[in-house]
Amino acid sequence: MSKIDFESMMSNRISKLPPYVFTTINKLKNEARMRGMDIIDLGMGSPDMPVPEPIRKELARAVNERHINRYPAGDGSIEFKRAVAYWYSKRFDVDLNPADEVLALIGSKEGLANLSSAFMNRDDYALIPTPTYPIFFNSITIFGGSLYNVPLLEENDFLPDFERIDPAVLRRAKLMFISYPHNPTTTVVEKSHFDGIARFAKEHRIIVSHDAAYSEICFDGYKAPSFLEAEGARDIGIEFHSFSKTFSMAGWRMAFVVGNPQILSVMKKMKSYVDFGVFSAIQKAAIVALEMHEEIVSETAAAYQRRRDILCDGLDKLGWKHRRPKATMYVWVKIPEAFKEMNSTEFASLIVRETGVAVAPGIGFGEAGNDHIRFALVEPEDRIQETVDRLSKL
Ligand SMILES: Cc1ncc(COP(=O)(O)O)c(C=O)c1O
Repeated sequence: MSKIDFESMMSNRISKLPPYVFTTINKLKNEARMRGMDIIDLGMGSPDMPVPEPIRKELARAVNERHINRYPAGDGSIEFKRAVAYWYSKRFDVDLNPADEVLALIGSKEGLANLSSAFMNRDDYALIPTPTYPIFFNSITIFGGSLYNVPLLEENDFLPDFERIDPAVLRRAKLMFISYPHNPTTTVVEKSHFDGIARFAKEHRIIVSHDAAYSEICFDGYKAPSFLEAEGARDIGIEFHSFSKTFSMAGWRMAFVVGNPQILSVMKKMKSYVDFGVFSAIQKAAIVALEMHEEIVSETAAAYQRRRDILCDGLDKLGWKHRRPKATMYVWVKIPEAFKEMNSTEFASLIVRETGVAVAPGIGFGEAGNDHIRFALVEPEDRIQETVDRLSKL
């Protein structure tokens, strides 16, 4: 029998997905390693800090419970949902009903994908400020519907201008994806920005999905607000939080979404057909994480802030244009004048080949990011300093 070409059988939707952003950089990273180069990997936003001990201990304890192996409550245990509601009331000016305004997720990437799957039809538009975290636009390619990119321009402080959208698009718009503090541009907002978005979305009957993955990694006294604090936000919106960055639990796959109970109920219906929820032992450990939130987060944010200062001071000396972030674990850097003929993949490739520092090319966050690269602050301070030293020789 001749060999079957399974790749040619790929669905049209999947074949439309762009190549994985790190494919080129990973290849060059491996080649540099083979040449004996020590790689400083500031590419993916995968936290290097350990998960705090009490959380790990609770996981180890819970794993040994007699019935822990059974299927979990798919939408989250009542204890977990209560812990989320309690945390929300302490951290933000928002009271949630744990019964129907909280839904546990196997990471927020899963939840964001299931949101598009649960709501988008072929004729619907999703409004997506770009550059952006890729699951927002890729989930539309996978599950159907049309993308409407709202450019985030430097001259507008990387903020979207929804008022300029064509009314014909607005009539068919169903979903809007926003996210602050923002990956990759690191933009932060105050509550008044959310008030404006909530007003606009209500007027045009658009679901707002706010991804707050970095709300707890803030610097210089800044505190990120919740979208749900905005006037009327709960009538049209939901908000995602992740344990991946806040508690460095990226590999554990634990997150949650809160907000409008009808939107959550549709997501819950969708999820009940495709997954069984998060392992109960991880949900128990996540409760401990939420209980210890304040002390963990202040240490984690302070560590990222020190790393930010080393990198930003170094980039300032090199004359590489960037804004010192007030939040997130990233620095978004414009391709310097001397290299401006290059696109972001070419420039990121040059950096990894010549210096052994791996960064994310901006194109991975959409075409609008192609004149930038992104550094993730996921190595210790001495390695960040070493990054600056190496870049100075480029
Ligand atoms: C904005 C944003 N949302 C979600 C995620 C993924 O979170 P999780 O690990 O909970 O799927 C990331 C990861 O980088 C992100 O940057």
